[in-house]
Amino acid sequence: MKHDVIEKNVGLMIVLTLVALSFGTLVELVPLMFAKETNEPIAGLKPLSALQLEGRDIYVREGCNTCHSQMIRPLRAETERYGHYSVAGEFVYDHPFLWGSKRTGPDLARVGKRYSDDWHRAHLYNPRDVVPESNMPSFPWLFDNDINGEVTGTKMASLRMVGVPYTDDDIAGASAAVTGKKEIDALVAYLQQLGTLLQSKR
Ligand code: HEC
Repeated sequence: MKHDVIEKNVGLMIVLTLVALSFGTLVELVPLMFAKETNEPIAGLKPLSALQLEGRDIYVREGCNTCHSQMIRPLRAETERYGHYSVAGEFVYDHPFLWGSKRTGPDLARVGKRYSDDWHRAHLYNPRDVVPESNMPSFPWLFDNDINGEVTGTKMASLRMVGVPYTDDDIAGASAAVTGKKEIDALVAYLQQLGTLLQSKR
């Protein structure tokens, strides 16, 4: 029996197992790379404005993504708490994506419009002022730091190279759009748009 040869030869068994697994992986993954629903933006998706984009960079700089995921799984416990599950088309302009899996704090994929701007400002200044039991750090310096708009346009131009549809006008106006703003303004602007396109289905 040919099968006999395989079963008694561990080396051959390992090689053939790997071949079978790799084939399975290819069959599962490769079609996704070309599927419309994983590559195309959902209806209404727009690139972040200059201010929101600066806010996203502050979000990354402050490590918000180390405690907060931005990815709601399609499970009842998650959708009841956070709203509509995340879909691939929401993230096509996200470079790099901030899905994460570490949840010291709640998922933020649909936090946009859930609270007022004032709530966010109070919360980021000192979380304990609005959520007494919170162990989230305070970020008071965001209220003092000015946004440096010198490279905002360059950031947009780089994102355009990887497919984010910024126009020449967006890029030319980027610096002016963030001038005079504080870091807190940018961060709140970024938070307030998160996940809002699918929020109505919550
Ligand atoms: C050390 C972990 C940690 C870090 C870092 C952190 N957070 Fe939090 N965050 C939490 C925890 C815990 C909560 C839940 C308690 C609360 O609401 O304050 C929370 C709650 C929140 C909420 C309210 C979410 C909701 O649905 O009620 C927002 C918004 C938020 N964080 C934004 C941020 C932003 C923006 C940053 C970065 C500037 C950040 N967090 C950094 C732990 C963290």
